[in-house]
Amino acid sequence: MTKLARILLNFLATIFFVSNKELFIRKNGLKLLKFVLLIYSYTPFKKNNIFFKIARSDKFEQYSDLYNLISVLISQDKKLNILEIGIGGHDKEFSGGNSILALKYMYKNSKIIGLDFENKKFLEDSRIKIFQGDQSKIDDLNNIVKQYDNFDIIIDDGSHFVNHQFASFEFLFKYLNDGGLYIIEDIQGSYVKSMNGDPELAYEKNLVTFFSHYTHCTNSRFIIKKLEKKFEKYSNFNKLFFVENAILIQKNSKNISKKYPEDELYLSLEEMNTKKKRIKDVSGVIKQNINNR
Ligand SMILES: C[S@@+](CC[C@H](N)C(=O)[O-])C[C@H]1O[C@@H](n2cnc3c(N)ncnc32)[C@H](O)[C@@H]1O
Repeated sequence: MTKLARILLNFLATIFFVSNKELFIRKNGLKLLKFVLLIYSYTPFKKNNIFFKIARSDKFEQYSDLYNLISVLISQDKKLNILEIGIGGHDKEFSGGNSILALKYMYKNSKIIGLDFENKKFLEDSRIKIFQGDQSKIDDLNNIVKQYDNFDIIIDDGSHFVNHQFASFEFLFKYLNDGGLYIIEDIQGSYVKSMNGDPELAYEKNLVTFFSHYTHCTNSRFIIKKLEKKFEKYSNFNKLFFVENAILIQKNSKNISKKYPEDELYLSLEEMNTKKKRIKDVSGVIKQNINNR
């Protein structure tokens, strides 16, 4: 909440003799925020990061580029299911929900589903559904997928413990729709022992090392049979972005490109030229239709 809004609400609470001023300020601050976000959502040149700025989510400082990028990767006007782990405010009553609200007005036709360790039910409305639970507990995640079994965007901004981030990803990725996005924020824990990460970058404790292993999956149509097993678990990765302190994964869309013929991968340039009926020289120039010459 901005200083000005707080001063205004404080003034109103005083003149109306409100007994719990702080609660009054938080509840009405939320209403005010929704109103401002709604107005902004009708402006013609709106940008995702500005929704986060208005909502005072720290995604504005850290991830402006990342969230502006996702507006290119997935349509904002469709009816989507968006799940965010970590609502904010920790155990403070009527606190948090900044990014959930920003997402609600950014994706006007979508359902926003939130999960937090603490009770954040105060945020619920016709398009926001809140679950209380632990992102590292499969039972709690199951509770969500019993009601919402497919998502278009999943954002992990919860505990930031690496084992939790792994547990949520391993369980939830299969519920991500084709073309859907999975974002893991605050991956700094991957480098820190106290967050169950590993400064020496071990595969099972460091998200960057883990996901780097699957970068070839974005080109899975070129992977030869012999190596398929190695990558099969996440052969449906379509895009993988590593940015400072976050990872974004996009799942393949329905129209997956056809497998590249394996025998062609081993042809020499001369053999390939014969097969393709063209001449490509070593400089890269292609002389086409050699049969017509
Ligand atoms: C960084 S805040 C989320 C901020 C919010 N996404 C935003 O951008 O405004 C992290 C939240 O994760 C919650 N959290 C911590 N551990 C969790 C866990 N194991 N499972 C689910 N939520 C957890 C905390 O209660 C806290 O509210």
